[in-house]
Amino acid sequence: MSKDPGREKITGASYDRGRFRVVTLRNIALTAPYMHDGRFATLEEVVDHYSDHIVSSVTMSPFIQGNLNLTAVEKKDLLYFLRMLTDSSFINEAAGGGPCPNEESDRVHEGQGRE
Ligand code: HEM
Repeated sequence: MSKDPGREKITGASYDRGRFRVVTLRNIALTAPYMHDGRFATLEEVVDHYSDHIVSSVTMSPFIQGNLNLTAVEKKDLLYFLRMLTDSSFINEAAGGGPCPNEESDRVHEGQGRE
């Protein structure tokens, strides 16, 4: 395990040792390296980790105590799923643009609609 104490550094509670924020998986294929310390260079390594190399500890979520023991096909399916979370319209958007205009431009559009 890495030397980073995780949330314990903030709260001082040993219960929080090794706890880290669950991060978003949105656009995960574009944001390597992975984990708080960048220990995994690829999503394949992350999936292998969850499948085969989980080191259980008292502070680990009950959802991931023990390896998932995925088959080769399940690993592949999971990788396809993770890559599917890439939002190409979002990443190609110009800053400030997009489907949710700010209040100011809402007013402009409303005004134009009524004229
Ligand atoms: C097959 C199921 C799962 C997959 C494919 C998965 C995938 C991932 C990936 C790709 C990351 C790296 C995110 C990044 O670095 O940007 C990550 C990190 C993380 N995941 Fe999962 N995850 C799974 C299950 C879970 C579960 C069940 C939990 C907890 C209940 C969990 C908690 C976390 C946490 C806390 C991190 C951050 C770890 C760190 O910063 O070192 N994950 N996960």
